[in-house]
Amino acid sequence: MYPFWEVPVWTSGIFIALIATFHILPSHLATGAFWFNVFIERKALKENRPGLLDFIKRYTLMILIFCFVYGSLTGVGIWFAATVASPRSISALIHNYVWGWATEWVFFILEIVTIYIYYYTLDKVSPKTHMRIGWIYAWSAWISMVIITGILAFMLSSDSWIRTGGFFDGFFNSTYWPQLFSRTALMLGIAGLYAIISASGMENEKDRNDVIRSASIWGMAGMVFGGIFSAWFLYKMPDAAKGLGLSGGLPYLKNMLYAAVVCYALVFLYMLVAGLLRPQLAGKTLGILMLVVLFLGIGAGEGFREGVRRPYIISQFMYGNQIIAADVPAKAIKSEKELFKDGFLAHIYFVPDGLRTITPENEKAVGHIIARHQCGNCHTFDADGKMRALPGLFTRLGMTSKDDIAGWMDAMEGYAYMPPFLGSEEEKQAVAAFLASKMQK
Ligand code: HEC
Repeated sequence: MYPFWEVPVWTSGIFIALIATFHILPSHLATGAFWFNVFIERKALKENRPGLLDFIKRYTLMILIFCFVYGSLTGVGIWFAATVASPRSISALIHNYVWGWATEWVFFILEIVTIYIYYYTLDKVSPKTHMRIGWIYAWSAWISMVIITGILAFMLSSDSWIRTGGFFDGFFNSTYWPQLFSRTALMLGIAGLYAIISASGMENEKDRNDVIRSASIWGMAGMVFGGIFSAWFLYKMPDAAKGLGLSGGLPYLKNMLYAAVVCYALVFLYMLVAGLLRPQLAGKTLGILMLVVLFLGIGAGEGFREGVRRPYIISQFMYGNQIIAADVPAKAIKSEKELFKDGFLAHIYFVPDGLRTITPENEKAVGHIIARHQCGNCHTFDADGKMRALPGLFTRLGMTSKDDIAGWMDAMEGYAYMPPFLGSEEEKQAVAAFLASKMQK
């Protein structure tokens, strides 16, 4: 076990969730925007309306700054945060998918190079060449999504990979296609909303309204197809995920799903009314407000997708607390369940002197260390914690003493959404003593 990154009150997962939710806006905009850009550029050429190029300039500059400054920063941020929050799961993903990421980065580089060339060669090279540069960007950006979606979907449904260890068995898993299709549709929805905001500042009224109308149609189509493909995704989810997310195993997940639907419906309505029907109503303030609504919707939707994966961080293979839960014979990987049942402390490398052996004096301190590793990825320990604070949860269950808590931990196996406690009897008592000491505050 690596050292543990403990974030009081919120847990480290919230950091990743905030960064990752924000990252969805620039990343999906980056992949979706150029399909619309090229569409408008073609229209400008075909109908001989150079005024439309005003939009291309505005939109591309916004993409350049928003996606390639904030998007890149948050992308790197996800890597940093995930690496410290869950080093073993990142390590497992890299061991399996390093060539997937390497391929993705080739397309990233293409994307980055072409967007600069595209922006700075507008009006300077022949229109045909310019459009070709746009196409290269559009395709390479989308292909980067084709790749990263495989790795994301693998974390939810690793399917036969657990037996074969095969790269493509895990990559093209049962939720891969629904996720690729819904992300592809959603990227057009996001691109549409941004295009409306960008176009609302255009000077020529006719050009402005035409672009806004087209962007709304693209955006609305993206939302509708995104909804249809998301339903397909829900249908294809593993049974355990359906149990947690749809059948009330974890009731708050269903609420997140409803929240996502309401947010997406609001954005759709905005595009319909202030985009397609009355483009003159589209403006920056309302548009940005809608972006916030979209952000909340994405946060809820992604929260749902991440939530139904429990108790795993990598489906079937690794628990949310980074313990390996199953054998993968093809990779010579062994489950750690039996091993850790005999004693967990010996497998944490960084333990202060004096806490290696449990004594009545240091029991609570050792319990804290073990609890961080086994519960701390999902729970906070202080009574004022906001993320599933354990004192509150135990109080709700009516368990306040060390014996109550230790008894409850024996039965953790019965929870569908939590890993069992893995450790010796003595270690369990230490964790219970620590948790009980938090209750008395
Ligand atoms: C993979 C994430 C994860 C890990 C690891 C985890 N839990 Fe949980 N736990 C949850 C979730 C999710 C809930 C549901 C919270 C809710 O209802 O809001 C929960 C609920 C609970 C509850 C309330 C149960 C009930 O019936 O209402 C207790 C008590 C609890 N956890 C204790 C622990 C302890 C102790 C550990 C470590 C030994 C632990 N958990 C490890 C995710 C986890």
